[in-house]
Amino acid sequence: MTGTPKFAVFASGSGSNFQAIHDAVKAGKVPGQAVLVVTDKPDAFVVERAKKVGIKTLAIKPSSFSSKQAYEQAVLDKLSELKVEWIILAGYMRLIGDVLLGAYPNRIINIHPSLLPSFPGKDAIGQAMEHGVKVTGVTVHYVDAGMDTGPILAQAAVEVVSGNREKTEERIHAVEHELYTKTLQQLWSR
Ligand code: GAR
Repeated sequence: MTGTPKFAVFASGSGSNFQAIHDAVKAGKVPGQAVLVVTDKPDAFVVERAKKVGIKTLAIKPSSFSSKQAYEQAVLDKLSELKVEWIILAGYMRLIGDVLLGAYPNRIINIHPSLLPSFPGKDAIGQAMEHGVKVTGVTVHYVDAGMDTGPILAQAAVEVVSGNREKTEERIHAVEHELYTKTLQQLWSR
C-alpha cells in the first residue's frame, strides 16, 4: 500500500491502545494517520486522551438513535467526511453492524485480550482466570459480523499470574500495545 492510510479508532474505555497506536504513529513506527476517535461512551477516558493529542472525537450514544443502522449511519457520515479508510477497534464494546461492515469490507480490525477462539466476548481476562488457564494472550483480527470471529492477523501468548488479575491484565495490556502497533505497521507497509 502506498501513502499513509487515514484511520479512525473506536473505543469505549480508557483508550490505552488508542494512545499506544497514536504514539507509534507520531514516532514514525506506524505509517498511518489517525483522524478521528469514535466512542459510544461520551464519558470514556479515551475522549480526554484524544483531545490532549489534538484528534477529533465523535462521541454519540447509540441509545439516542432509533436503530443500530441509524447510529452507524451517523458514524459513517463522519467517517466519509474525513475520508477515513480503516477502522481500528480498540476496546470498542459493541458488535459492528451491516452499515459499517458494508462500507468497510476487510478494513475493520479489532484487538481482543485472549487467544481466540478461546474466551470471546466480554471480560476475556476474567473468563480465562475463571477457567484456570496458565497461558492466555492477545489476538488482532479482521472484523466480521460475529463476536470476535474474523480472520486472525496476529497472536501473542501471555502467562497468567496465578490468582492476580491486576498483574495479568498489566501484562496483557503491555503485549496488546506492542502487538497492535506491530500488526498495523506490517499491514500498512505491504
Ligand atoms: C483491551 O484489553 C481490549 O483488548 C479489550 O478492551 C480493552 C480496552 O483497553 N477489548 C475487548 O475486550 C473487545 N472484545 P483500552 O481502552 O485501555 O485500550
